[in-house]
Amino acid sequence: MKIFILINTIIINCSILFSIVYSEKEFYSILGVSESATTNQIKKAYRKLAKELHPDKNIDDPNSGEKFQNLGAAYEVLSDPDKRKKYDDCGIECVKKEGMMGTADPFASFFGDFFHFSSSSDSGDQKEIPRGGTIHMDVFVTLEELYNGNFIEITRNKPVTKEAKGTRKCNCRQEMVTKQLGPGRFQMMQQTVCDECPNIRFVNEEKTLEFEVEPGMKDGQETKFVAEGEPHMDGEPGDLILKIRSLPHPIFERKGDDLFTNVTISLQDALVGFNMNIEQLDGRKLLIEREKITWPGAKIKKKGEGMPNYENNNIRGSLIITFDVDFPKTQLSEEDKLAITKILNQKSTQKTYNGLHT
Ligand SMILES: *[C@@H]1O[C@H](CO)[C@@H](O)[C@H](O)[C@H]1NC(C)=O
Repeated sequence: MKIFILINTIIINCSILFSIVYSEKEFYSILGVSESATTNQIKKAYRKLAKELHPDKNIDDPNSGEKFQNLGAAYEVLSDPDKRKKYDDCGIECVKKEGMMGTADPFASFFGDFFHFSSSSDSGDQKEIPRGGTIHMDVFVTLEELYNGNFIEITRNKPVTKEAKGTRKCNCRQEMVTKQLGPGRFQMMQQTVCDECPNIRFVNEEKTLEFEVEPGMKDGQETKFVAEGEPHMDGEPGDLILKIRSLPHPIFERKGDDLFTNVTISLQDALVGFNMNIEQLDGRKLLIEREKITWPGAKIKKKGEGMPNYENNNIRGSLIITFDVDFPKTQLSEEDKLAITKILNQKSTQKTYNGLHT
């Protein structure tokens, strides 16, 4: 509960903080991004810093609230293209003049993962807090998104509790009570005992969650958004669990961090060599050059052109290309047959074997 008091103080301080004069282009340095950073880079930088700078993780730093607030202000402006343009044109004063500032809740857990650190840690001897249900949701992503990373916006109509008139029974529990039935006779029985709490009602509020598809994430990988699940009258909301579902790709197949693709080439290219481009998942053209003969089933391996590894994006898998040769279907003239025989000059050999057991 400490955290809520902290939030309140910070929200009250909001107006004071926003009146601090930020120096020119300071928001970019707060987020540690360049002025040409993309929105995705800004979101990524914010997500990382928000986890590091969250006041709950920096209890010893008296300025942690202010730092986090500044980070929130920088994010609010730079993540919104309209506000960012205003900011680039003429600084924070312009953004404020337009009344665009301070509309976002600085503590909204956009990214689900840096908010509720403390809610479960101080529950030592207390009775278990009831929780709302966990919501599971599949998020379908392309292989390009898993290669490059992306942010996915999820708009969620979330029931939130608001105070309502009157009171309601809450914290109900079973207690033993004794009743005297007569001289020397008692009855013990169980009874439901409740407290009176202020009444609440659920109101739907639209909330935007930002889900980061991190480079190298795998099919089936889950990300938890704490407290974004079903609400609970007498307790805390459950969690929202998002599960990555990778969509099939027209060119590549993924196994672990390796990518596989098939290329069909002509018989002529197979014999004399060729070069071609394959479009990589980030749009780069990969040049594939062969001077040697390429037989059906030949594989080439391009190291470092696979998927980025999830734990360490600098490590990448390989791209493995398997070739298939498209033989001409038209018949050759006697003359052509002779010419080819002369060029290839191969012995006429036929080997019969059981292909399933080799
Ligand atoms: C390549 O071809 C093989 C054999 O037909 C197939 O099993 C595999 O799925 C193909 N790979 C891709 C990436 O299309």
